[in-house]
Amino acid sequence: MLVLIAFVDHTFMGAPIRLPTEETIAEAARILRDGGLVVFPTETVYGLGAHALDARAVARIFEVKNRPRFDPLIVHIADLAMLEGLCETMFDSARRLIDRFWPGPLTVVLPKRSVVPDIVKAGLPTVAVRWPSHPVAQALIRAAGIPVAAPSANPFGRLSPTRVEHLDPVLRSQVDLVIDGGPCEFGVESTIVYVTEEAVTVLRLGALPVEVLEAVVGPVTLQIGSLGRPMSPGQLPRHYAPRTPVRVLRPGETSPPSSHRVGYLAFREAPPDRSFQAVEVLSPTGDLREAAARLFDCLHRLDEAGVDVIYAEPVPEVGLGRAIMDRLRRAATDVGFFPSED
Ligand code: TXA
Ligand code: MG
Repeated sequence: MLVLIAFVDHTFMGAPIRLPTEETIAEAARILRDGGLVVFPTETVYGLGAHALDARAVARIFEVKNRPRFDPLIVHIADLAMLEGLCETMFDSARRLIDRFWPGPLTVVLPKRSVVPDIVKAGLPTVAVRWPSHPVAQALIRAAGIPVAAPSANPFGRLSPTRVEHLDPVLRSQVDLVIDGGPCEFGVESTIVYVTEEAVTVLRLGALPVEVLEAVVGPVTLQIGSLGRPMSPGQLPRHYAPRTPVRVLRPGETSPPSSHRVGYLAFREAPPDRSFQAVEVLSPTGDLREAAARLFDCLHRLDEAGVDVIYAEPVPEVGLGRAIMDRLRRAATDVGFFPSED
């Protein structure tokens, strides 16, 4: 009977969700060292972690996420000695960015050492590294004593979880442990930069605004949303998407009348129109930091509200507003997916 309950629990309820006590961290660290998978909080979004130098453990991440193998992972570290173990070369501008922004929501892509398994960096000559500032992430990596490869803990292409309540049940049933650290502070993923001797290129807009980066290293190049083989799959045109079709409104546009059940994502205030099935407001004070932190949570809730379509208001494209608009545009479906109005 007990065996049956344990079986049912793991299959249908998923991995246990634990608060980040010392025992939980120690257990999670053991799981990682042994090749298992742990969902853990970071300051940006929840990560799905595995031993970065264990190719079999990393392969499980790809299976559980349904992630294409061309999409490389970010390796999370908890001190600079770990960085030296992973990267061959350190450029001046990378050093300056690291000094200023680590630990924090910045991922740096650098030439990698041969210890990094091919599967982690999808055959690229580089590896993406990040030292998260979240105390639970730091404690976990330190206790494990190994670098931890971790994509966002969502099925490929879907919204990243910013609370454990957002976790996909199928994904949860395939991991070994979930650590609940409450809501994530930033709510959008880290900013990714590719650094060479000559230039700093932003591959993904994220929690660290471009303006803030530029104050440290001068003008940067943006290479986001490129066509062809993406250098960073957050660059894929449709990504970070809820199940429900999304349409981003133009500035000042009011949502067109619809015979569908409509969910509405407002920036500062709920629209006067009462016909919406569900409404979420990102930040009543117009604070872009709050808006970013709440973005995926609001989209998750609208997705759960049983609507046919979600209309999203645009936000100002400065600071974190650029990452918010980037995520909204990628969540927005192509015309072909949009339910017809007749
Ligand atoms: O905030 C974050 O970065 C979260 C938390 C968990 O740390 N992680 C995250 O991972 O967003 P993921 O796998 O969802 O996104 C990682 C992105 C992908 O778009 C991937 O293509 C890019 O990083 N990436 C990884 N290695 C790369 C490399 N060597 N060159 C270029 N892009 C790389
Ligand atoms: Mg992701």
